[in-house]
Amino acid sequence: MEGTVERDPRYGGVAMALHWLTAAAILLMLASGIAMTRMEPGMTAFNLYQWHKALGITVLALTLIRILWRFTHRPPALPAAMPHWEKTGARLAHLGFYLLLLGLPLSGWLLVSVSPLNLPTSWFGLFLIPHLPAPAEMATRQMLNDWTEQAHVLAGWTLLALLVLHVGAALRHSLILRDHVVRSMLPRWIAAKAKD
Ligand code: HEM
Ligand code: HEM
Repeated sequence: MEGTVERDPRYGGVAMALHWLTAAAILLMLASGIAMTRMEPGMTAFNLYQWHKALGITVLALTLIRILWRFTHRPPALPAAMPHWEKTGARLAHLGFYLLLLGLPLSGWLLVSVSPLNLPTSWFGLFLIPHLPAPAEMATRQMLNDWTEQAHVLAGWTLLALLVLHVGAALRHSLILRDHVVRSMLPRWIAAKAKD
């Protein structure tokens, strides 16, 4: 049975803000990551790398806050009619997102910290982000750089695949099942319009 928009179970304002800010940042991170690694080296590429690193560290900070918030605030209940395996699938996908939202920035931070190039990372020109502790020996740095780079690239593509699945599930909930799941992540005024 469908509830009214007023009574629909929903995420709180902070959870929604963190979700949509992260979603926008992730789209920019995937686009900048793919673009910067495929363009001619030069100032534009260098600036895009700096921007990618700064926004990536911001995603890490937002994710740490979001995980703390998630542990202290219960998410809205999924529809009672949803089969058990689907609920488990949704929870696993969300857990996967949280792991990737931590793993991606951490692997990125690690890969620039061990890079033999030793380039500094600035947070949008405001302050320097220190490198994570790294061995001094060049051969070890190069080896760790290769590993962390591979992990970062693999995690990036895995996140993109999970995002396609997530958006597909959202479309199914709003267009086919027509339940409250998508509205639960939308502010009331947009949810009310979406219901019309
Ligand atoms: C949520 C955060 C992040 C996402 C979604 C992300 C995504 C990506 C993607 C999609 C690529 C291109 C992969 C490819 O070559 O196909 C990439 C490359 C790269 N990222 Fe990130 N990234 C994130 C955070 C970071 C952070 C925090 C740093 C550093 C502080 C960083 C540094 C790099 C570097 C240096 C490369 C180039 C690696 C190479 O040469 O192949 N990333 N990232
Ligand atoms: C890269 C971008 C995105 C990431 C990382 C992401 C991540 C997440 C995570 C982790 C949750 C679970 C929240 C919880 O802990 O309960 C969630 C829920 C949700 N997301 Fe996203 N999301 C992204 C983009 C989107 C987009 C583009 C849409 C809409 C088309 C969307 C719609 C939803 C909805 C409706 C929920 C609530 C689902 C439920 O209650 O089970 N998300 N998202």
